[in-house]
Amino acid sequence: MPDDRALADDFDLKRLAGSFYVDPYPTYRALREHAPVKRMPDGSVFLSRYADVVAVYKDSATFSSDKREEFLPKYGDSPLFEHHTTSLVFNDPPRHTRVRRLIAGALTPRHIAAMEPRLVERVDMLLNVIAARGEGAEVDLIAAFASAIPVEIIGNLLAVPNEERAPLRDWSLAILGALEPTLTGEQLEIGNRAVREFVLYLEGLVERRRAEPGDPEVDVLTRLIEGEGGESLSAHELLHNCIFLLNAGHETTTNLIGNGLACLLDWPDEKVRLLERPELVRLAVEEFLRFESSNQLGNRITTGAVEIGGVALAPRTPVTLGIGSANRDAEQFADADRLDIARAPNRHVAFGSGIHQCVGMGLARLEGKVAISRFLARFPNYRLATPALRAQRARFRGHARLLAVPDPLPSTTTTIPQKTTP
Ligand code: HEM
Repeated sequence: MPDDRALADDFDLKRLAGSFYVDPYPTYRALREHAPVKRMPDGSVFLSRYADVVAVYKDSATFSSDKREEFLPKYGDSPLFEHHTTSLVFNDPPRHTRVRRLIAGALTPRHIAAMEPRLVERVDMLLNVIAARGEGAEVDLIAAFASAIPVEIIGNLLAVPNEERAPLRDWSLAILGALEPTLTGEQLEIGNRAVREFVLYLEGLVERRRAEPGDPEVDVLTRLIEGEGGESLSAHELLHNCIFLLNAGHETTTNLIGNGLACLLDWPDEKVRLLERPELVRLAVEEFLRFESSNQLGNRITTGAVEIGGVALAPRTPVTLGIGSANRDAEQFADADRLDIARAPNRHVAFGSGIHQCVGMGLARLEGKVAISRFLARFPNYRLATPALRAQRARFRGHARLLAVPDPLPSTTTTIPQKTTP
């Protein structure tokens, strides 16, 4: 077991040990203590302290989100490059501001509240299917539950016809997977193919929607097509921001639900507490977001010379924001490595902060709350059938598989298999 100093000294996002994917938190703790502004071999820096991460989020002029310079060597002149450099999250104002305003207009608290009845219906339908498998049946909670919720919700947001939704999740996984710090040739190829197929699909959808517009109050695609105040997006901007929106709401929310259900099994006392006090679910969702942040990393590049955490950075220095680490920083969160479903205040940065803060956070919170509370009420005694299997990803933290027995009956002899390193 390497000591903390060695963990911090050896840390390189492009050369991560297998154990990091299972449990990155010892490494993050070592970095916060010994190298909070960690210079990596490629010249970028990794920030692990809460205060530094928040400071970067708040200063979007000095810490740019424009990724053209960074992504060109990574993707070359390819569909992935075109996609990622066109989506709002990887752009600065004014382009960012224009796209964001259009999307945010359809995701106000009022719009989100109106989505709840359909969401409840969807969740209950999935729970019925799980229950129908019979007592003692093993179910992968990621495939059969967590991932099946966002795909519908985000599909509704752009009014994608139900029968056309099947490929969305795989496209999304392939495109977001290409944001990992290191990539194989195969991952690049799959990612590029996914962008090409997604664009082709959306071209057809946009054409149909132009011919038959939806209600701009609730249909984001119609809003984006129509534009606002005489301004609208180019065809290219439109397609890539739709892809981004469909992707942004998928894996992150799947992981919030999966991480939440897994956390409750790792912390049985907290599970009992939530069963006894279901009204805590809103706070519990915030704690799952903090404790196992679905999106662990953010990225910026410096526009000029600047100092952060006492370290001078040159212009054009790529900066990785350790969201997952910031959310475990003991300087900000008491007993940070403990899951406390009633934690308050809980000012985590799982949704980022500042001008790019997640547009879909209200929706993600609602999905997390409805999915976890209804699952727990229906299957209070669920337990793992085999150890949880983490996806081998540094940026998006979730499970490849969560095989469980969703037993509805309370029992006094629940056994919880220990986590293992895949
Ligand atoms: C648990 C679920 C989610 C998490 C953890 C999450 C996390 C994040 C984070 C950290 C950012 C900031 C990126 C940055 O500053 O560089 C972000 C941005 C964004 N998210 Fe989410 N997100 C989630 C769900 C969603 C959903 C459901 C939607 C869509 C309905 C969505 C749409 C967006 C968009 C459009 C942006 C870009 C905002 C901008 O650049 O101004 N997200 N998200």
